[in-house]
Amino acid sequence: MTTRKIGISAVIMASVLVFVGGKAYAEDPAPLPEVPAEYADKKMPAGWLTDPKVLAEGALIYTGEVNPQVNCASCHGKDGKPVKKGARDFRDKAQMGRMSEAFWFWRVSEGVPKTKMKAWKSQLSEEQIWQVIAYERQFSK
Ligand code: HEC
Repeated sequence: MTTRKIGISAVIMASVLVFVGGKAYAEDPAPLPEVPAEYADKKMPAGWLTDPKVLAEGALIYTGEVNPQVNCASCHGKDGKPVKKGARDFRDKAQMGRMSEAFWFWRVSEGVPKTKMKAWKSQLSEEQIWQVIAYERQFSK
């Protein structure tokens, strides 16, 4: 190999590394915020994730049939596919898998600051929050 060729391959190699490195970085999801202490121990009641009665109740909450003021589907979409910009895609297994039940419970209760996601705890009981979470979890199953 001539010196010139070595030089060219070095440049190509370096560009590949920069490209691959940049891509890996771009795909690295930002770390999730930590669940505050008062929510850290919250747990879905046993069996609720698959209980048809719980899921049916969750669906009614999600679509605003229980309370028209609480209509998760108006942003998150009837099937978990977001209809409002910025809302999470509930069908995204990788993203949803990162969020613990306690994390969801906290976010639904307190909302997400500086986004359209409001705090719902004044309008939903703790039981209802778990029902709607159980329902939402279905979208990434
Ligand atoms: C007005 C639009 C809107 C409505 C109504 C709404 N959400 Fe959201 N929701 C958002 C947005 C936007 C985000 C993304 C926030 C962010 O950037 O983290 C979000 C995020 C979430 C998350 C993920 C938390 C996170 O950190 O990303 C959950 C869980 C959630 N919403 C559940 C619900 C439930 C349950 C309801 C109904 C009780 C609801 N949302 C109603 C807009 C909405």
